[in-house]
Amino acid sequence: MNCGMEKVLIIVIHPDLENSVVNKMWVNELKQYPDRYHIHDLYHHYRDGVIDVAAEQRLIEQHDKVVFQFPLYWFSSPPLFKAWQDEVLTYGWAYGSKSGFKMAGKKIALAISVGVAENKYAPREKYKYTLEELTRPFELTFEYVKADYRPLFAYYDLELNKHESWVARSIPLYMEYLKSL
Ligand SMILES: Cc1cc2nc3c(=O)[nH]c(=O)nc-3n(C[C@H](O)[C@H](O)[C@H](O)COP(=O)(O)O)c2cc1C
Repeated sequence: MNCGMEKVLIIVIHPDLENSVVNKMWVNELKQYPDRYHIHDLYHHYRDGVIDVAAEQRLIEQHDKVVFQFPLYWFSSPPLFKAWQDEVLTYGWAYGSKSGFKMAGKKIALAISVGVAENKYAPREKYKYTLEELTRPFELTFEYVKADYRPLFAYYDLELNKHESWVARSIPLYMEYLKSL
């Protein structure tokens, strides 16, 4: 029973979740609350890259809050997220025509694990741009389909800092963030 609380769909996009530290830990935490979170592991379902578009659209239609959780790869997402957008956000469903805009009003957010420290993602620093700036294609895509794009969650400094206490510190922050969506 979910006590009237609507489930959040968490679409996990990690090409090697088995050997992941952070995303795996987040998934394990989320699994403790099956009444709150529906976890959908995209690479597990589509290892061959062939996305079941109708199934993905159905899943989105069944939820009002969707979080895409992934590690930052080359200042962007792993490639299956791009393929997901290209294939699932179809004309007539996601946009265009009167029956389209099936994501309209849905809360959409990104939850990103980041290798480098947060202070490097700033003007005059090594990576020049904030994560909010780097993720603008996602922001614009979800705004294009009239979804309610929310500020992202990010946890930084994971490349050199994968020891358990630093990673574990992210869990309550992530859980708080999800509750506030
Ligand atoms: C192919 C690849 C590309 C990466 N690119 C970046 C990057 O552009 N910026 C960054 O801060 N970290 C980058 N990283 C580090 C990952 O973001 C980091 O290891 C990951 O978020 C940790 O999560 P995990 O333990 O769930 O894999 C990259 C890692 C890989 C494997």
